[in-house]
Amino acid sequence: MSLFEKLAQSIVIGNKCNRPLIIGYDDSLTLAGVGRSAFVFKIQHTNKVIKVFFPEHQHLAKEEAEVYKDIQHIDYYPVLYEVGMNYIVIDYIDGYTFFECLTKGIEITEEEIKKVDLALTLARKQGLNPSDIHLRNILITSTKEIILIDVARFRQLKTCNQWLDLKIAFYRFYTKRFFPKKIPAFILNCIAALYKFFHRKNIITGGIS
Ligand SMILES: Nc1ncnc2c1ncn2[C@@H]1O[C@H](COP(=O)(O)OP(=O)(O)O)[C@@H](O)[C@H]1O
Ligand SMILES: [Mg+2]
Repeated sequence: MSLFEKLAQSIVIGNKCNRPLIIGYDDSLTLAGVGRSAFVFKIQHTNKVIKVFFPEHQHLAKEEAEVYKDIQHIDYYPVLYEVGMNYIVIDYIDGYTFFECLTKGIEITEEEIKKVDLALTLARKQGLNPSDIHLRNILITSTKEIILIDVARFRQLKTCNQWLDLKIAFYRFYTKRFFPKKIPAFILNCIAALYKFFHRKNIITGGIS
């Protein structure tokens, strides 16, 4: 059994009010983030994280690893080190997500937006369909490089407009002088919830209001 597999097995995930809850994990791990499908831990004394999927999303480990394998030559994505039944091990990205940048008032520049575009174009050249590109899946490193994570849905066929809509918001609002560059997390979460609500409604009504 590999060291990473042992670490993955040390992570015990329970359930509280229908939400995944961490019950225990190895001392060498530090929680780095939580998403809709996994917990992510930094592995002590390494530049790696282990992403352990919630039991109902275990199948995404293999799916995400397969996508990473297709884009390993592109600098805008982390290196994949190992894949197991319910986990993947990738580079630890020392930086902030776009979401954190907005809540901390760290400015996001047009140059960074263009780097995200390039990262997505390069993934498309590999025959992928980048999806689920939102504020928490884009990181800016301390050296201002852009890294995209959470690529599990890059092989889906459905069109995802999240990045296009974020870009529209960037140019229409964020770049304007009057627009606040620091936004509280609860406001961003409200906007995200409203976006999801109207987007779903649109899918159901086929865009007819
Ligand atoms: N390689 C990484 N380095 C640093 N932080 C990460 C890394 N991967 C994920 N995270 C953090 O964990 C969060 C959840 O990870 P993510 O892969 O997006 O999970 P999910 O698929 O559940 O959305 C991210 O929004 C980010 O804050
Ligand atoms: Mg995510």
